[in-house]
Amino acid sequence: PFLEDLYANYFTPTTPSLPTAYIWPEHDRPSSTPDDIEPSQATDIPVINMADDDHTLKSGLANACEQWGVFYIMNHGVPLDLLESVRQKGLELFSLPLNTKMRALRKEGSFEGFGKAMISKFFDRLMWSEGFTMMGHPTSSIADTTSKLSLGSENKFREVFEEYDRATQKVAARLMRAVLEGLGVEMEGFKERQYDVEGEAQSALQLNYYAPCPQAHMTMGLPAHTDSTCLTLLHQGLVPGLEVLRPGRPWMLVPPLSPSALVVNVGDMLQVLSNGRYKSIMHRAIANKRRERLSIVSLCFPPMNATIAPAEEVLNCSQDRQPLYKSFKWGEYMHAKSKYFMGALDHFKYQ
Ligand code: SIN
Ligand code: FE2
Repeated sequence: PFLEDLYANYFTPTTPSLPTAYIWPEHDRPSSTPDDIEPSQATDIPVINMADDDHTLKSGLANACEQWGVFYIMNHGVPLDLLESVRQKGLELFSLPLNTKMRALRKEGSFEGFGKAMISKFFDRLMWSEGFTMMGHPTSSIADTTSKLSLGSENKFREVFEEYDRATQKVAARLMRAVLEGLGVEMEGFKERQYDVEGEAQSALQLNYYAPCPQAHMTMGLPAHTDSTCLTLLHQGLVPGLEVLRPGRPWMLVPPLSPSALVVNVGDMLQVLSNGRYKSIMHRAIANKRRERLSIVSLCFPPMNATIAPAEEVLNCSQDRQPLYKSFKWGEYMHAKSKYFMGALDHFKYQ
């Protein structure tokens, strides 16, 4: 029923003002909405060129992960026409009639299908967004989830989402290897002790749709959170809305850089693997007054039973040899995150 509520309020374009449930407390609202901001705003967020040589790539990533926790990637190998078709398919998906969407509603306890953001249970206001989630590699639910819409194979949702998931997972695997090697991690040992970042990593594909909202300054598209992933690859298109929070600084927009650049952010698991050297970055998404916005998010995370702990090499080569985190299974972390949300990492910290 929550989703029927959501849709009942959300899809009432004739509503003259924002329903109360969508109005956020003042201190949680955006300080400005993307429409107030110059579209091609300059930014000093790092840009990683994946066509660079290995050494430049690794040191660039090390710097970006340590100083920022968020960066752009270019020359990543995902073709522009695939980026465009996944965007077009995503927009088509969210414009389906309500009764079609209802066939693929997310069931209690499951991740797949249409629904509110997973983190919505931690907030008492409604978010100005709707989501569609599919599990990717290795146990893909893309075919299943899209077939629930019963639109026939000519719609190509499945093909496009599967192809995009495969393409972004390849990029994520390359990035993870370069990030870990940049930390001095020896991949064979890591594979034995923890997991194979290239062969065993899991993925999920999360689409977030933000309809235009005339009172965007009073609501929140997706409130502040960190991702439980190792890395997250985000394709935000050309409509701004993503903001990041670096410690001790105000919220900052991550402006769209180009049609093909992707945004990457460090997630909770990379924070643990790097023994806190790389920080999982807090981020949120702001609705837009005039334009619809779609973000296509590729989540890259360890297999359920992988052992997550600060990598040995990181402990051996750093000044602080003490591990900040105990070792745990990724599945345990997911459980903690769904219970304690932003307090989850504290449960695995040495006191
Ligand atoms: C997310 O954090 O999952 C999405 C952020 C965005 O829509 O830009
Ligand atoms: Fe996120």
